[in-house]
Amino acid sequence: MTEVTDLLDAGERLDLEGLRALQLERLRTSLRHAYDNVPFYRESFDKAGIRPEDCTSLADLARFPFTTKADLRENYPYGMFAVPQDRIRRLHASSGTTGRPTVVGYTDGDLSLWADMVARSIRAAGGRPGDKVHVAYGYGLFTGGLGAHYGAERLGCTVIPASGGMTARQVQLIQDLEPEIIMVTPSYMLTLLDEFERQGVDPRGTSLRVGIFGAEPWTEQMRREIEERFAIDAVDIYGLSEVIGPGVAQECVETKDGLHVWEDHFFPEIVDPITGEPLPDGEEGELVFTSLTKEAMPIIRYRTRDLTRLLPGTARVFRRMEKITGRSDDMVILRGVNLFPTQVEEIVLRTPGVAPHFQLRLSREGRMDALTVRAEARPDASPEVRDAASRSIAAAVKDGIGVSVTVEIVEPESLERSVGKIRRIVDLRPKE
Ligand code: DLL
Repeated sequence: MTEVTDLLDAGERLDLEGLRALQLERLRTSLRHAYDNVPFYRESFDKAGIRPEDCTSLADLARFPFTTKADLRENYPYGMFAVPQDRIRRLHASSGTTGRPTVVGYTDGDLSLWADMVARSIRAAGGRPGDKVHVAYGYGLFTGGLGAHYGAERLGCTVIPASGGMTARQVQLIQDLEPEIIMVTPSYMLTLLDEFERQGVDPRGTSLRVGIFGAEPWTEQMRREIEERFAIDAVDIYGLSEVIGPGVAQECVETKDGLHVWEDHFFPEIVDPITGEPLPDGEEGELVFTSLTKEAMPIIRYRTRDLTRLLPGTARVFRRMEKITGRSDDMVILRGVNLFPTQVEEIVLRTPGVAPHFQLRLSREGRMDALTVRAEARPDASPEVRDAASRSIAAAVKDGIGVSVTVEIVEPESLERSVGKIRRIVDLRPKE
């Protein structure tokens, strides 16, 4: 049998020393490329009194200024590009629900790098040339669909470009075309699960072997639920459009112990979200990325707002990031206590009698914010089981997170279903 190690590409075969040397060389080139070709970086480096040539070790990166989402918005649409427009082969954009969208661009070289990184990710997830890959991430300006698509083709797979939506048809396609791999958000996978059951098709009986889930936070409990209900391996893929799209980090199926960051191309740091001070590996904070080889839109010290920590490599030489706890923007502060939707997910998913569907409703009672956890009953849950579930969720939130919440167990199929990235928090507080 072919061993996983026989399949690794050149980057994955580096030893730690070789990797660090390559990163430094690439970092210096990337800083120079940004400084020479993007006025925003020239100004921000000059203002900080630092030049690309001042970077003589990887630790020197911490002396360079951060880049934020606001910087990208201010330079909308093309201000962050480092190459002439005729070298830009593709654009993607974020949805822009919270203001102006951000646009990202790719050269031929960037598209090829991206395909390589997604191919590497699918291989780490257990995909092999010849596998059929059902892509149910949305196609379009969102990077999920096309990113997965070209990566699967690069690995030598057969792509089924289903995109998101038309859920009944997705189930039909999975039965008829018999894919081994599915790439989709974990929340939409649960929507598919409902549809399998509605059609009376056994979700454990499909051809699927592996699911590659990302684009939103999900927990170990969710992994267990999906693995169990579909009889597949479920692994995590991470990425963001500002850095490239999906394929920045990927969990290996043989260890399922966090996501290896493809740090020969995307250099990670963890910083204190408040002070911006770099934190050592092992400590939780905000993930920051610097691209090492991107051409169209080099990105230097980009603040992702995603919270995690870095750990040493296991199945690969690259460092791992722990599953994302959440985005700092999704953190609810309730009477001084910080709460992330993933913490509630862990609790809801281990509670008997409730389905893996929940929503957090924030409201204002007097001068205080209040949180209601709405979780869906499983169809077979009796009134007694629902009552017990409600009490047990409230107690677990109180004990585990340290805050009192109201819990409502709602009817099966009454909460909105995901077609892509799910919104867990419904904010009903009056606008100030
Ligand atoms: O969501 C890219 C992607 C597509 C990743 C498909 C994985 C699969 P954006 O729309 O720019 O790009 O959103 C990026 O989504 O900063 C995280 O907050 C969140 N995110 C992405 N992957 C994960 C993950 C794509 N595996 C933002 N776990 C990121 C938790 C994730 N959050």
